[in-house]
Amino acid sequence: MHPKIYTQIKHLYGITQKGEIIKKGEQLKEFKSISDAWLTVNEKGYISGFGTMDNLPESNFEEINCMNKMVLPAFIDSHTHLIHAKSREDEFVARIKGMSYEEIANMGGGILNSAKALNECSEDELFRSSFIRLQRAIESGTGGIEIKSGYGLTVSGELKMLRVAQRLKSVSPIPVKVTFLGAHAFPGTGTEIQETYISEIIDEMLPVIGKEGLADYIDVFCEKNYFSVEQMERILDAGARYNLKPKVHVNQFNAIGGVQSAVNKNAVSVDHLELLEDGDIKALKNSETIPVALPACSFFLNIPYTPSERILKNNLALALATDYNPGSSPCLSMPFVVSLACIYMKMLPEEAFNAATLNGAAALQISDSYGSIEVGKKGNFILTKSLSSINYLPYSFTENWIEKMVLS
Ligand code: NIG
Ligand code: FE
Repeated sequence: MHPKIYTQIKHLYGITQKGEIIKKGEQLKEFKSISDAWLTVNEKGYISGFGTMDNLPESNFEEINCMNKMVLPAFIDSHTHLIHAKSREDEFVARIKGMSYEEIANMGGGILNSAKALNECSEDELFRSSFIRLQRAIESGTGGIEIKSGYGLTVSGELKMLRVAQRLKSVSPIPVKVTFLGAHAFPGTGTEIQETYISEIIDEMLPVIGKEGLADYIDVFCEKNYFSVEQMERILDAGARYNLKPKVHVNQFNAIGGVQSAVNKNAVSVDHLELLEDGDIKALKNSETIPVALPACSFFLNIPYTPSERILKNNLALALATDYNPGSSPCLSMPFVVSLACIYMKMLPEEAFNAATLNGAAALQISDSYGSIEVGKKGNFILTKSLSSINYLPYSFTENWIEKMVLS
């Protein structure tokens, strides 16, 4: 790759200092920018410099004239269920007619509906459909992504999903992190089925995942009628034996103590948090665990939004992600997530962009190389169409303001 210089950038956003790998509380208000800028990317794809046009470096660069458009770091989507076998629009209509997400799940819909289809779907077909989704995510501005299993709920189905995720990782132009979510739901009801399934996770799935290096993280849906805190702890402890760090689903519909427990297990992130108790905030304050909000899920299910004001007032970090999945968030668009965060969570555009870029990267432990504009980081950014300012982007909430993704 030839070294490149991007010139005539109207605003270059999302600049960080070396070592600034996460933003907390008030720090999210600064989405640092310079105007009338240039940016260079070296032959290895790393940002090698930036500055203002009155100080243009002279060297043998290939020039890309941005013609007064804006540049910002690509989004890092730290929570997706990208791989699935079929959409669930029938449940969407059932909800319009008055059924709740919980009622649909109790009737064998929801995650179990997705699991049935997934177990009948071939690995190649799953790869084909999820690769198309990955490309759509990238076109929407995503420059790094997490992909979970969790629609298998059988040994073969979960391993099939993880193998598809690893294939996606190997061909993806953006970094991919893979999370094992065998504990997404129980494949049936009753104590015996639950215990058998937990044994399958611990004794059959995890050893293969560890041996073949199929996952980076481990996730559990800690929720009433799903996995209890005690069950989550057993599964996370088993995952730790294979160096899988926790990133967990907690406090979506009920607060049952999952946040404190995940913090005790050194979780990288706690995701959802539509409900948040004072004890949860207290636990998070004494930890490195990152809260992750999923406003597209709140929007789609019409449930509360994660209380971002309380989180930020307590000087905690906050990341934003899509939670893309066929049941509760069929949304691959990080720009829409940013708009929702501004409109419903009252986040300022700067806060929302930081949460969706640098802090998303932190929630995937890649913020030393992704998530902001900094010398030494990967050239992984969005060139926008010709627009007035950063505030315009979440404001024009259905407009495609992305002109080009630069992924080096
Ligand atoms: O993050 N909450 C658990 N899992 C997904 C939804 C799964 C589904 O409905 O298929 C979520 O919202
Ligand atoms: Fe999720």
